Amino acid sequence: MGTIISLINLKGGVGKTTCCVNIAGEFANSHKKVLVIDMDTQANASVLLMNPVNYNRKILLENENNNSENNIISKTIYQVFRDEIYDEKKFSFDNTIIKSVIKINGNKRMAQEPLPNLDLIPTTYHLQTLEQNIVNYDRTKYIILNKVLKKIKDKYDLIFIDCPPNIYTATKNALYASDFYIIPTLPDYLSMSGIHLLINQLNKIIEIKEEETEKSVKLLGILLNNVDGRTNVHKEGIKNIGHRLDLFKQEKMVNENAVIFNTRISKTVKINEASGEFLPICLNSPRDKATGEFKSLCTEILDQISVNKE
Ligand SMILES: Nc1ncnc2c1ncn2[C@@H]1O[C@H](COP(=O)(O)OP(=O)(O)OP(=O)(O)O)[C@@H](O)[C@H]1O
Ligand SMILES: [Mg+2]
Repeated sequence: MGTIISLINLKGGVGKTTCCVNIAGEFANSHKKVLVIDMDTQANASVLLMNPVNYNRKILLENENNNSENNIISKTIYQVFRDEIYDEKKFSFDNTIIKSVIKINGNKRMAQEPLPNLDLIPTTYHLQTLEQNIVNYDRTKYIILNKVLKKIKDKYDLIFIDCPPNIYTATKNALYASDFYIIPTLPDYLSMSGIHLLINQLNKIIEIKEEETEKSVKLLGILLNNVDGRTNVHKEGIKNIGHRLDLFKQEKMVNENAVIFNTRISKTVKINEASGEFLPICLNSPRDKATGEFKSLCTEILDQISVNKE
């Protein structure tokens, strides 16, 4: 049975996409069958996994005569929503899933082969029109993705959804379709202060899902990213986040098994370098400390999934 996990935070730039791509890459590297779904109009996960040249050619249909808006959208996750809103019936997994998305570019010498088990459903900037297009859609607006993902859930061990830095329709759909969500955050005051509000907002959707389907969406854990453990701000932040999670549990805002992941992802230029090569870090710097961190994070994620599914 596949497990769907969304990476969500209202705050921008906390590493949702970076963690999504690197966690997915690490799982695929350890032979799990993995799908990434890009739900953000910025298309960062799509570009990081495909690389810009392939993204422009295959999705934006650069240099092709048939690069109309409709042809572009039909190759992306946005088509799922267009089908519902305009009854277009054009979405198909065969047409949108990019199998074995990581390709080795140019003459770069690789320590390993690309990841045959890592697939992507990309997005396009056209997704930014979702909010205005869905206004007149008079049925339930956040169950659309769930209905479609049910059909492929079991073809994968893990599906990761990279969400935009907001809680509008795309994020609500991702959450509703998920079994779990992870909150990536930086361990500083401004990044963490919004988490209470975020969880309250998400719980409104989760309650609706529970009523409609008798299934829930649980917080798997809070992931501290971009951590510089030498700074006092981050040391304080790390202490503080544990207290916050305890309070959320006391207030019954999150499930008892939710954790702050023991593994923190360090702030390191190696992560930027891997992004610059359009590769997960496990391929770009297999022996780097950050690769080890993503490995142990993935072990924790699997443990957390099994604890929470019991
Ligand atoms: N651990 C890290 N070490 C160094 N740089 C990092 C780390 N994590 C993320 N970054 C960098 O921080 C920037 C923001 O990261 P990212 O795009 O993943 O955040 P995001 O939460 O997805 O942003 P958005 O809200 O815009 O979608 C990127 O330039 C990324 O390379
Ligand atoms: Mg992002």
